[in-house]
Amino acid sequence: MKEKVLVTGGAGYIGSHVVKLLVDAGHDVVVYDNLSTGYRSAVLEAKLVVGDVGDCEKLDATFSDENFTAVMHFAGSIIVPESVTDPIKYYINNTTNSLCLLDCCVRHGVNRFIFSSTAAVYGMGGESGSVSESSPVNPINPYGRSKLMTEWILEDLSRSNSNFNFIALRYFNVAGADPSGKLGQRGPEATHLIKVALQAALGVREHMEIFGADYDTPDGTGIRDYIHVLDLAQAHLDALSYLRDDGNSQILNCGYGRGFSVREVISMVKQVSGVDFKVIESERRAGDAPYLVAIPDRLEDLLEWRPKYRDLKWMIETAYNFEQGIDQLS
Ligand code: UFG
Repeated sequence: MKEKVLVTGGAGYIGSHVVKLLVDAGHDVVVYDNLSTGYRSAVLEAKLVVGDVGDCEKLDATFSDENFTAVMHFAGSIIVPESVTDPIKYYINNTTNSLCLLDCCVRHGVNRFIFSSTAAVYGMGGESGSVSESSPVNPINPYGRSKLMTEWILEDLSRSNSNFNFIALRYFNVAGADPSGKLGQRGPEATHLIKVALQAALGVREHMEIFGADYDTPDGTGIRDYIHVLDLAQAHLDALSYLRDDGNSQILNCGYGRGFSVREVISMVKQVSGVDFKVIESERRAGDAPYLVAIPDRLEDLLEWRPKYRDLKWMIETAYNFEQGIDQLS
């Protein structure tokens, strides 16, 4: 069944990949994005409304103009260190603005909602590091807290209104790109490991750092669960189908359930690029967990999610392909 989907933040990295899959699957999509970090050219085949989710009047008018059947909410701020220095920005963009959007959903009777949450809600992770949705939440920065607060608002709303159902997807470390080279992770100030390493490979930066080589892990560096953006995008479509089939509200981890260390990732970037760039071992970065890996069983069981792109090499190849063409993008 065709859905009319509002995608906030659809001009951004993850949102733009989801929009492409939605359009390919025959859904009608309206992207709502203020283009603060997104790019017009990343909205390949959908209608784009340039607006801020915090502009409740404009958002409300967009709901009135279009009869949405579902909302996917990607718009938000995502840089952990920035959230520590500018927490208000994070509570406004990630929490208050979500309220404005949810208020529109209630008033316009839109009852299917998919939310971009984060593994940052787990803070330093569980005792073993692998976390399920029932592991304790304990975010250690405003970014994680601002997202967790929105999860709580969603839970309260769905309890108060039996017609309203949401899926909050807790993303682990999203990487890779659409193989076309048209969509990927943009933005000049990269902080994410794979993007930073690719910039070092391409000479955009002179070297890169390993933040902490003295963790209690096999090679001393941090371990993360890297998930290809295309598999993550597919989880959103699976979530939409699940809600359409009267599934009830869920919070679900999005990862593969296996981890790679910083050294393993760097070595794969060197292999894929063929460049032996300079790597410096530095101090640990504040707030980094040694090991954070998903237990993704619920996502697989409930949504029948079947990931196809678990291969780290292909993840890095697609990201490298995008990074090489980034200067030619409008
Ligand atoms: N790292 C380096 N050097 C770098 C960048 C990163 O050594 O230049 C290391 C980090 O210390 C960490 C690992 O690489 O051990 C991954 O770091 P990223 O910055 O790529 O990603 P994070 O794990 O810190 O954060 C990501 C998302 C968050 C999300 C979190 C949840 O960016 O939004 O995963 O796991 F909350």
